[in-house]
Amino acid sequence: MCSQLCPDALWVLMLLCIPAAHAAKCPQQCVCDQIQLTVTCVNKNLTQVPLTVDEITVKLDLRGNDIQELPTGAFKHTPYLKHLSLQRCNIRRVKEGAFRGLGRLVFLNLANNNIDILYQESLDGLSSLKQLMIDRNRVEEIQPGAFSQLGFLNLLSLTHNQLVYIPNMAFQGLQNIKWLRLSHNSLNYLDTEALAGLFTLTRLSLDHNELQFFPSETMTRLPEVTRLDLSYNPMTYVGEDVVSMAKLTHLFMDHMSLQDMDNTAVSKCPNLIHLDISYNQLRVVQPLSEGNPKLARLNPAGNPVYCNCYLRPLREWSIRNKLKLLGTCGGPAHLSGENLEAVYPSDLHCQSQEAMLKAEFEEATRVTTPPTQEPANKVKCPANCVCEAETHHSSCENRAHTKVSRGFSPNTRLLDLRGNHFHYIPSNSFPGVAQVVSLHLQRCKIVEVEGGAFSGMKGLIYLYLSENDLSSLSPDAFKGLPQLTYLHLEKNRFTGFPKGAFKLVPSLLALHLENNSIPKLEPDMLSEAEGLRALYLTGNAIEHVSPRALDHAGDLDTLHLGGNKLKEVPTEALSKAGNLRDLRLSGNSIRWVGPNAFRPLERSLKELYLDNMGLETMSQNSLAGLGAALRSLFLEGNQLEEVPNLQPLTSLEVINLADNPLMCDCPLLPLRMWIEKVNLKVRATCANPPELRGRRVKDVHVFRACPGGESLPSPPTVTPKPAKAPKATKPKPMHLNGIRQVKMLKVKSKLRKGSNTKPAAAKKTRERRSTA
Ligand SMILES: *[C@@H]1O[C@H](CO)[C@@H](O)[C@H](O)[C@H]1NC(C)=O
Ligand SMILES: *[C@@H]1O[C@H](CO)[C@@H](O)[C@H](O)[C@H]1NC(C)=O
Repeated sequence: MCSQLCPDALWVLMLLCIPAAHAAKCPQQCVCDQIQLTVTCVNKNLTQVPLTVDEITVKLDLRGNDIQELPTGAFKHTPYLKHLSLQRCNIRRVKEGAFRGLGRLVFLNLANNNIDILYQESLDGLSSLKQLMIDRNRVEEIQPGAFSQLGFLNLLSLTHNQLVYIPNMAFQGLQNIKWLRLSHNSLNYLDTEALAGLFTLTRLSLDHNELQFFPSETMTRLPEVTRLDLSYNPMTYVGEDVVSMAKLTHLFMDHMSLQDMDNTAVSKCPNLIHLDISYNQLRVVQPLSEGNPKLARLNPAGNPVYCNCYLRPLREWSIRNKLKLLGTCGGPAHLSGENLEAVYPSDLHCQSQEAMLKAEFEEATRVTTPPTQEPANKVKCPANCVCEAETHHSSCENRAHTKVSRGFSPNTRLLDLRGNHFHYIPSNSFPGVAQVVSLHLQRCKIVEVEGGAFSGMKGLIYLYLSENDLSSLSPDAFKGLPQLTYLHLEKNRFTGFPKGAFKLVPSLLALHLENNSIPKLEPDMLSEAEGLRALYLTGNAIEHVSPRALDHAGDLDTLHLGGNKLKEVPTEALSKAGNLRDLRLSGNSIRWVGPNAFRPLERSLKELYLDNMGLETMSQNSLAGLGAALRSLFLEGNQLEEVPNLQPLTSLEVINLADNPLMCDCPLLPLRMWIEKVNLKVRATCANPPELRGRRVKDVHVFRACPGGESLPSPPTVTPKPAKAPKATKPKPMHLNGIRQVKMLKVKSKLRKGSNTKPAAAKKTRERRSTA
């Protein structure tokens, strides 16, 4: 009978287990429904989460209160909640572990509060959450790992916040995300890896932001996105091949400032059906290149499209390809307002050269007539710079300035000085701009930053010094930056880790040093940056890592060492970084990985990149210890003929074994058996024996003949898709219902003891139990 219980029936079962005398509690100001198990306390000015909510409550509605701060364990008395509403509660801060214990919560709404930072552990414990709304807050910072526990989340909505920038891996851990909504922020820049790891994302909303360029690199990392909304961003130009998204079907680029669009701009979107470029400033729209065979609708409405001979190619093309063309002609007079689809190529003429020039001249003078109204409040702005009052952005980008300008408005929040010729930044270069959050100094030929160069910039969080000529830093280069969190020093000329420079930046979380020339990591290099969470050293020349290099790196959770010259896994150094979740060693020259190479990271490591290294051998125990935590393992592009035992990796969600010369014979049977069990896309193909080259390991028959392989199903003949297995990204135990009950009992007994062990640990015990 138990095996037939649907999840909801479990509640009934649970109710039956509750002693008959159970007297339901209901907080004084609230309304409680004992049948539906809901508690409603709306608009009551409550200053904390009521303590007397009945333990078995499933839905808790706390909209419109005055809670200010959610403390750790705020909901630990209601472990069965599925639905929690916290809109309009004046919440400013969500302390780490505030939701711990809510392992069943499916829906959480935090909209219309005042949250400004999402801390790494603010959302811990929400391991079943599917929808999370944080709209209309003041979020300006997402700390690395903030979403790492939300492996089941489908929808994340962060609209109407104050994000200016999305750092690399900000959404790491969202293994099942479908729709990410970032509309109505102030995003002006997305890091290349900002959205990396979102392998299931199908829909991305970035409308109403400040993006000036199409973020090509960032977008190509989103393999499944079908709908992308970039409306209302101030982009002026979309160049050749910039949109390269294999599955994209709907692209919205309306209400931007497009003046030109290359006809190959979207040619790398073979599945595009609908392209909206309405309400831009396009005067000519050309036929798109051949790359979009499925395009069915093109919307250039609201552009000043002139229906003359220049439009003829587009019109002919739309007729030929049966393309729906929306919008009307912006001129000449006799066609003005006519639907584009109603004019035929034969109607589209150009007048004589002279008449055309005259018409164009008239058009141009009309456009440049000074606007009738002056901007209401003129913003302070130095010469040869552009400053916007509304967004508080000031820019003197690419102006060949040789000195940092002065006289920016004290309200400036983003200061963009990239592409100038400063050569050096003297002390006190930025007086009077204490509110700047983001400072761009890329490509300024900087060789030296004098001590105190940035002093006074109390609000600075993001500092970009990338693509300069720095080879060292003075110990007080960053003096006076109490909030500096993200520091970019990539593409400079460092030949050693600039160890001494971080003493004065207590808030530093992420340090980018990619593409420098650092040859080795010396002992205690992080002794003055103990709070660092993410260290990016990809693309240096690191050959040697001292066993003591990562002493003091106890908080480090991301370490990228790809593209260096390592010959072995620096296991001993890693033993001091026991909280590392994301380790990348791609592209080194590590031929061999020995036993227990990652053992020191057994509790923490979630993502491991060992791809493209020429790896030939992995000892059977090379991954020992990485059982319950590891979620992604990348081994593609190596020289492996065999793979180590993957059996213990019970939490694996992504694995890539592509491009390895696997030898499909009995020694590979454990891999074959494992593939059968896990229902993951493994991308393993045989290279040998020659007759099996190119076949998927899963599809070849050799393994059935191996001792122990008899139970394998016979390989598919014609239709390889088994009807039974539903698409799952996570291996699910067969006897799920039984497990759930065990888990529920465990949660209850834990609560009784008042402990709140982390879910990972609970899971481990559970697995041990189920295999016992
Ligand atoms: C909550 O506080 C506001 C302002 O102090 C007051 O007007 C309102 O009546 C209070 N509501 C309740 C339910 O106490
Ligand atoms: C480092 O250099 C490589 C190769 O030029 C480039 O692809 C990569 O984007 C660079 N990374 C950074 C962070 O600058």
